[in-house]
Amino acid sequence: MAGPPVALPPVLLVVVVVVVLVSGVEALSNGLALTPPMGWLHWERFLCHTDCGDEPLACVSEQLFMQMADIMASEGWKDAGYQYICIDDCWMAPTRDEDGRLRADPVRFPSGIRRLANYVHSKGLKLGIYEDVGNHTCAGYPGSFGAYELDAQTFADWGVDLLKFDGCYCDSLEHLAEGYRNMSLALNGTGRSIVYSCEWPLYLRPFQQPNYTEIRQYCNHWRNFGDIFDSWDSIKSILDWTASNQDSLVSAAGPGGWNDPDMLVIGNFGLSWDQQVTQMALWAIMAAPLFMSNDLRQISPQAKALLQNREVIAINQDPLGKQGYRLSKEDNFDLWERPLSNLTWAVAMVNRQEIGGPQRYSLPLSVLGNGLACDPACLITRLLPTRAELGLFSWVDILSQRVNPTGTVLLRLEAPAQSRRALSGGRLPRPIL
Ligand code: GAL
Repeated sequence: MAGPPVALPPVLLVVVVVVVLVSGVEALSNGLALTPPMGWLHWERFLCHTDCGDEPLACVSEQLFMQMADIMASEGWKDAGYQYICIDDCWMAPTRDEDGRLRADPVRFPSGIRRLANYVHSKGLKLGIYEDVGNHTCAGYPGSFGAYELDAQTFADWGVDLLKFDGCYCDSLEHLAEGYRNMSLALNGTGRSIVYSCEWPLYLRPFQQPNYTEIRQYCNHWRNFGDIFDSWDSIKSILDWTASNQDSLVSAAGPGGWNDPDMLVIGNFGLSWDQQVTQMALWAIMAAPLFMSNDLRQISPQAKALLQNREVIAINQDPLGKQGYRLSKEDNFDLWERPLSNLTWAVAMVNRQEIGGPQRYSLPLSVLGNGLACDPACLITRLLPTRAELGLFSWVDILSQRVNPTGTVLLRLEAPAQSRRALSGGRLPRPIL
């Protein structure tokens, strides 16, 4: 299967070669999403509210995106790494214009998308938009079927920086695959850098196993599983599904292409504090794109601090780009780990018991990283739910932590300084036995 044409300047070419060497699987060669993209996406929180008379603050309108852009730029979100302000479904007028071009709803987006993109760019942010590979979007607006090049060019002309491409109303699996490939090629053909977010595997799965080698060649990230809801049941189902499919998912992820377990719903209504901690920790372990869907105009200081936690974001954004996985599931505890650059590991202990109080989890450090994560010693920092430097541990130690029901303890394990120096000098640390 041929990938998109590669016509890159030398610098990008170097980046692509490095990416291919690191991940081992060829990624979409647009030089984007070398770490999981971060931003804000309207869907989970604002759905398809189109009546601005009734819901002036919660309808899908240019005002909503401009307000989010103002806050993203002024309240620490941009500095923490959140960059893309993304429009989801329901932004369009019900029909194309007389030249067949897409247009925004004239009442809710009176200035048009190009002006909105200019506004977002003036804040140092980027704009994302939504379309669909089939005849209609999931909410029934005009789809891109048969107009991939025209729509890609329209988005590029408007200054769009990311496209979320849905898979509703597609009449065959052939059209689905062709459509996702063609839109990727069409975006590349515009010459504009546009992150390409797909739902290709999600729509394929009921009928056939996705070919991730191919999907990675065309998409920067891809949804595998159903829509997230603002509930613990939804978070649990995403985690369980991801863990049961990790053999095919983990190797598909890497710089340039990521599995997308859907939006962060932290700061909304449905999750307890501990469950919000679990979502943040596990989205970091899973190397997930971090798109918040919440109302940044009204968010608790606690949720804001969690979403802006630099050390947790650094795990999510680790340049090695290896997705983490569930290591074990026993006695109501799920244990996840993720290898990071610089001999560092992230570890999450999730308490799945939904009765009683905090439970103690005792972790023999020798089980982590195939025995290597703390070999012969490691410095452990707890990052969530509260930060604490736990100190220096040896390979044979057992680390014990109390974890709240449905909550998570997120740890960072680093090799002590001398081990890192030895590694950079070409000598491996000798195990202390
Ligand atoms: C779904 C998609 C959601 C949202 C919605 C819009 O299919 O998975 O994330 O985009 O369509 O109608």
